[in-house]
Amino acid sequence: MCGIIGYTGHRPAVPVIMDGLRRLEYRGYDSAGLAFVEGRCLRVLRAEGKLAALDACLQGQECSLALFGIGHTRWATHGLPVVRNAHPHQDASGRFALVHNGIIENYAELKAELQAQGVSFVSDTDTEVLVQLLAREVTASGDVRQGIAAALSRVEGAYAFAFIDRESPGVVWAGRQASPLVLGVGVGEHFVASDIPAFLPFTRDVVFLDDGDVVEMRPDAWTVFDARTLAPRDKTVARISWDVQAAQKGGFKHFMLKEILEQPRVVRDAVAGRLRGSRVVLPELEGLARPERLVVVACGTSWHAGLWGRYLLESMAGIPTQVEVASEFRYGGFVVRPSDTVLVISQSGETADTLAALRMARQAGATVLGICNVVGSSIAREAQRVLYTQAGPEISVASTKAMTSQMLVLLLLALHWGEERLTVSQRETILHGLLALPEIVEASLPGLRHEAQKRARVYAAARGCFYLGRGPMYPLALEGALKLKEISYIHAEGYAAGEMKHGPIALVDPEFPTVAVCLRDELLPKMRSNLQEVAARGGRILAITNPGVEIPAADTWTVPEVPAPLGAFMVLPALQLFAYEVAVYLGCDVDQPRNLAKSVTVE
Ligand code: F6R
Repeated sequence: MCGIIGYTGHRPAVPVIMDGLRRLEYRGYDSAGLAFVEGRCLRVLRAEGKLAALDACLQGQECSLALFGIGHTRWATHGLPVVRNAHPHQDASGRFALVHNGIIENYAELKAELQAQGVSFVSDTDTEVLVQLLAREVTASGDVRQGIAAALSRVEGAYAFAFIDRESPGVVWAGRQASPLVLGVGVGEHFVASDIPAFLPFTRDVVFLDDGDVVEMRPDAWTVFDARTLAPRDKTVARISWDVQAAQKGGFKHFMLKEILEQPRVVRDAVAGRLRGSRVVLPELEGLARPERLVVVACGTSWHAGLWGRYLLESMAGIPTQVEVASEFRYGGFVVRPSDTVLVISQSGETADTLAALRMARQAGATVLGICNVVGSSIAREAQRVLYTQAGPEISVASTKAMTSQMLVLLLLALHWGEERLTVSQRETILHGLLALPEIVEASLPGLRHEAQKRARVYAAARGCFYLGRGPMYPLALEGALKLKEISYIHAEGYAAGEMKHGPIALVDPEFPTVAVCLRDELLPKMRSNLQEVAARGGRILAITNPGVEIPAADTWTVPEVPAPLGAFMVLPALQLFAYEVAVYLGCDVDQPRNLAKSVTVE
């Protein structure tokens, strides 16, 4: 849930680390810090709040001689987001400095053990336990590698860490267990970070580290070894094709806006190379039978994509499909059989609950497929087969284009597995629609944004908001509500429209508007009746619908009509832009909403 970076090489380390932290800030921004060695002196600088505060701390500091160091941007798990809990943490002697992402689950027990041996602690974090333990073990064995192995053998939980030692000039050690970590291989310099963009301006050559790997890097060499046995581990260097530009704002005010507006390209890329005439060809699934039963597991927006996919997988492909929130699936005791196919969906590929669900499914003997955006992420590597969504880096904490890309892959899966059940003409209608979609979305985005801006002023004063939909529009209602609440902090709930009268309707009044997704489909008459019930109780209605559809007493907002089930790809940008414009109108920090982080690598 935090971002970590380590550097060793020929450049001044501090600017390289700060630059990397800027690109990792989406992972957490409660506090930030860095550590480096100059001469024989280990220096640690930390600041509460966003990276700008650390930048301010650095003003006037002379640190150009440091050629190796580590940095951290924090999303608090243990202890308040204050300076004493900010990383890097040091051992009592001040020899080591360490940054960490993840949670040491047995930290309380280890802390008590260290305290009983006279070690005193200055923070409330689990990370300080790790660095103190490491210091104890390195001192006892007289060797850093031995010390790492001894310390890690005691640690339970998820971590990615990087540390430096005042006594080992130019060396950075880093390791991972269930939290992301990538090594960047340069010429005369090496990097390690939670995510590739951190060092992308300097190198495109990367090594994806696996659980149990520890890397020792110096300016001219790197070695990966097994954290327990210290045996060397073979690694392959991969080349990244996307560039820093792709991971940056490209002139837009916010990443979220840029990513919403990228959706026409996302549709093109998700479909590219996967259609042959009226057939969907997915080489990733070669040799796999059509699933008998599907269990889709994901969190948040990815879960909403899964809920939407269910309607298609059942109605088009005829596959019984169950969709579960990963954190419930993990502990729910649900039945997974070896004959089941479990489909995990994750943009980041690092979400802890989804990863754990994947591992459970594999243990149960099920076939595990992944839908992922981040290449080389843990979920992408551990699923038996992975379908990449090809959405490109998603930086804004609020997920937008990733959902579109996940829904597209789900649609392609439904068409692929449903090939025998659907007629050629049914498939052709959808595929022709799909090929025309990027242009239609592209052409409608400026108008949608304008409409969203107009409405933001009207609805920003709402006390709360309902989002209603039926059938495949129900998951979109859930997503619309999630987007609004996470970036504008307006309370919003999504409901299946038919559920309203079973309780929620009690909240309806003029300050509690209802956003209704009611396209021209077979459920439209039902939606109309539900909305009449809302209007009869004084509720204001914003209806997202198609041209020519009448919704009595509603503020109607039309999106172009496209063949089912593609309407979702028109509605989703409208919902995203609406939330975006409300948040901008209210002056909220759109890309980094409070209390959230992009990649949720803790339970
Ligand atoms: C909401 C959002 C989150 C993520 C969720 C899963 O805008 O971004 O709800 O969708 O944390 O993340 P991934 O897809 O990376 O597993």
